[in-house]
Amino acid sequence: MSLVPMKQILDEAERGGYGVGAFNANNMEQIQAIVRAAREVDSPVIIQASRGALRYTNLVYLKKLMEAAVEDNPSVKIALHLDHGNDLDVVRTAIDLGFTSVMLDGSLEEDGKTPRSFESNVDITRRAVEIAHPHGVTVEGELGTLGGIEEHVQASRVILTDPDEAVRFVELTGVDALAVAIGTSHGAYKFRETPKLALDIVERIHALVPDVRLVMHGSSSVPAELIDAVNRFGGAMPNARGVPVEAIQEGIRKGVRKVNVDTDTRLAATATIRRIFHESPSTFDPREYLGPAREAIFEIVRARMVAFGSAGRNGDYAPTTLEAMKAIYAGA
Ligand code: G3H
Ligand code: 13P
Ligand code: ZN
Repeated sequence: MSLVPMKQILDEAERGGYGVGAFNANNMEQIQAIVRAAREVDSPVIIQASRGALRYTNLVYLKKLMEAAVEDNPSVKIALHLDHGNDLDVVRTAIDLGFTSVMLDGSLEEDGKTPRSFESNVDITRRAVEIAHPHGVTVEGELGTLGGIEEHVQASRVILTDPDEAVRFVELTGVDALAVAIGTSHGAYKFRETPKLALDIVERIHALVPDVRLVMHGSSSVPAELIDAVNRFGGAMPNARGVPVEAIQEGIRKGVRKVNVDTDTRLAATATIRRIFHESPSTFDPREYLGPAREAIFEIVRARMVAFGSAGRNGDYAPTTLEAMKAIYAGA
């Protein structure tokens, strides 16, 4: 059984000085691709599901797919994480489903747009910690806002994380991990030019709260070749830039331990499916395009695991359990 608390995976990454990819999944092909990559490069992995993923899969399908991934890959250390939970009900739902980690994104109001006050963010995040820790479940909070364009995670103004506020936030909430806003955003259209990220903020916060694991959202690199591949076969995506892998690696050197990637695997799947429909317009068996899409997702995830430094680290430590974490939290 290799389902482990996310805190263990991130604490080990801190010890080893590397980053761990947290890859979003909504269906069987994505989950299989992510776990296969982890197995093949011997990496621990975080599979994360958004609220949209929970809705899309009607919960039980996602739960069973995750369980299948764990059962099929007993040697891989896997954390199951709720991405951008925005209320306590969804946190409870994820814990009931067997997730080993939850994010309570209290940076925005429940409309997903208006920045919340610091006090209100502290209040809801602290309550998420009170719910999760007695189950041994890890909690990620967020302070500051991402500039994004996805419908439900779209701040109306971007606020970078203030390091001194981060210290107070961590003390007041007891979170295990903290998503910091350093200029990244969700989705395929992040930057027009090579981005300037506020990586000094990561370094500062890492020094101030060394026991809390820092998370970089919006970490897709949006490679030009993937946008080109989507557009070559009928796509109409504007040219945009993501976060270069080298910038993520610099973030990891400065203290980022969890690196969230969704868009890059979506682009890889879409480019592949568009190519197949273009090259063989008579295709109608979903396996003939979902299978290659799964392969394309696998390639991206594997490359990111190598680039973030988690490849080869899965066997470094013995897995712990939610039971063990419960005892640690109870004694804390
Ligand atoms: O943070 C957003 C992730 O990319 C998940 O997006 O809500 O469309 O599943 P989604
Ligand atoms: P991307 O859109 O850059 O892949 O970011 C995903 C993310 O942050 C999920 O929480
Ligand atoms: Zn995110």
